[in-house]
Amino acid sequence: MPRVSKNRVSSAGSEQGTSDGQTLAGPRHVAIIMDGNGRWAQARGRPRLFGHHAGARRVGEVVECCPDLGIKYLTIFAFSTENWKRTQVEISGLMSLFRRYISKEMKALAARNVRVRFIGDRVRLDAKLVQLMDDLEHETAQNEGTHLTIALNYGGRDEVARATKRLAADVASGRLLPKDVDEETLPRYLDTHVLPDPDLVIRTSGEARISNFLLWQSAYSEYEFIDTLWPDFTSEELARLCQRFGNRDRRFGAVKT
Ligand code: FPP
Repeated sequence: MPRVSKNRVSSAGSEQGTSDGQTLAGPRHVAIIMDGNGRWAQARGRPRLFGHHAGARRVGEVVECCPDLGIKYLTIFAFSTENWKRTQVEISGLMSLFRRYISKEMKALAARNVRVRFIGDRVRLDAKLVQLMDDLEHETAQNEGTHLTIALNYGGRDEVARATKRLAADVASGRLLPKDVDEETLPRYLDTHVLPDPDLVIRTSGEARISNFLLWQSAYSEYEFIDTLWPDFTSEELARLCQRFGNRDRRFGAVKT
């Protein structure tokens, strides 16, 4: 399990103590774009799905180290609204991987006090998968450890569009007045309405773009774009990124006095 020696990440929360006695806050909410599975597999002469299976195994390790790093919320991008453009073989392989992962991991996650939620549009997903997602959310609803959110058929623009539709319906029915709509209102309609905004967004595989992930929520997030391909990502690397986060100066648009 990762331990960072100088700016040590405490297991009690996201506070990091430095050698000069200062306290640095680690990220409470980490969001990850798990990229590079395909290239990882191709580099080994294997089909892309081989990389997705290796990537799925990484998810468990990362979830497990969260309490030690003071990460209370972990949000991972598993399938985007744009991923339907991939080949049918890859799409069905991924869907079957999600079904298997949820059935297999359900009891283990529940036992480890992990609370699982899904964000994204469920309409296009098959009924069996949606049932498993509902069951896993239900099964872990009382857990108070790490909050794991899995983005599945998720797109930031799609989420804002769906939220706006619901908000417009409330305005049309008179439940909400246009004059009361401000930037506190829309987030209440987003899939993530019960989650805090991410403090740190990580993208693996050397690509420096956000690909429609948590567009509204990441307005003030710190970003880390790292070269590691997702199946090679380790809890040690996550610990290093958490430590680096603690050294950042987050001003949220204000000027330091
Ligand atoms: C991006 O890599 C990855 C995906 C589209 C799928 C992410 C899925 C997993 C990590 C597996 C399982 C997750 C769960 C929750 C069980 P890519 O295929 O775009 O890689 P490339 O850029 O190298 O082609």
